[in-house]
Amino acid sequence: VLKSITPQDMTGKKVLITAGPTREYYDLVRFWSNPSSGKTGLALGLAAWLRGADVFLICGPISEKIVSLPGLHIYPITTAKEMQEVALKLWKSMDIGVCAAAVCDFRPEYIGDLKVKKGNKAGLTVKFANNPDILLTLGQSKRVDQKLVGFALEYENLRKEAKRKLEQKNLDLIVGNQVNITSPFGREKNTVLVLDKEGREEEWPDLPKTEIAWRLWDILLSL
Ligand code: CTP
Ligand code: CA
Repeated sequence: VLKSITPQDMTGKKVLITAGPTREYYDLVRFWSNPSSGKTGLALGLAAWLRGADVFLICGPISEKIVSLPGLHIYPITTAKEMQEVALKLWKSMDIGVCAAAVCDFRPEYIGDLKVKKGNKAGLTVKFANNPDILLTLGQSKRVDQKLVGFALEYENLRKEAKRKLEQKNLDLIVGNQVNITSPFGREKNTVLVLDKEGREEEWPDLPKTEIAWRLWDILLSL
């Protein structure tokens, strides 16, 4: 019923979306992560699905319950490595990729398969290793018939950094997010800076994430 009142302008398009945080465990019961709610990725997935796309959503642990439907395929993952593995498998057959996940840049080295005990007076020192940059890997193998979108979360130099990531990761479009004193995670609305590789530069102040998602697909379809 819903699809009968939305434009079916994404019919036949296969869309890969990463969403939510990743979790990186250092023992069996504890992890390093961030408070990403997954709302932006979910809004993008839902909007694309409503517009007729075949959606492949790779999602880290979030509080929202999401289930697969015809045309909406959910891949629940936990770690960045798992997210990358699924993304790389799917990417070749996709038309569009959007990395909206808040992937942990680092993962703690696994200390042991047990629970770390509190007894150590010197505290706990954890060593971190680099995680793969999933968006960068997708960009490196992007074909001319594929489009790729990324996000940039910045505390300073938003425009400059977003531009750098757009180029470095071989993206068609990037959405810049300014980190303020208040956390950018979990909100319903956001102010974003949208840049594309043809020189578009737009600021969208205080828009619901659902509206941001809808507009991003409008732009992508026109690129
Ligand atoms: N990203 C990714 N895999 C990672 C890190 C980031 O796919 N391991 C993606 C995010 O989903 C986002 C984009 O890369 O679309 C930018 O993420 P961001 O954290 O802003 O930039 P980084 O490239 O990780 O650089 P830094 O954190 O140092 O600013
Ligand atoms: Ca990062």
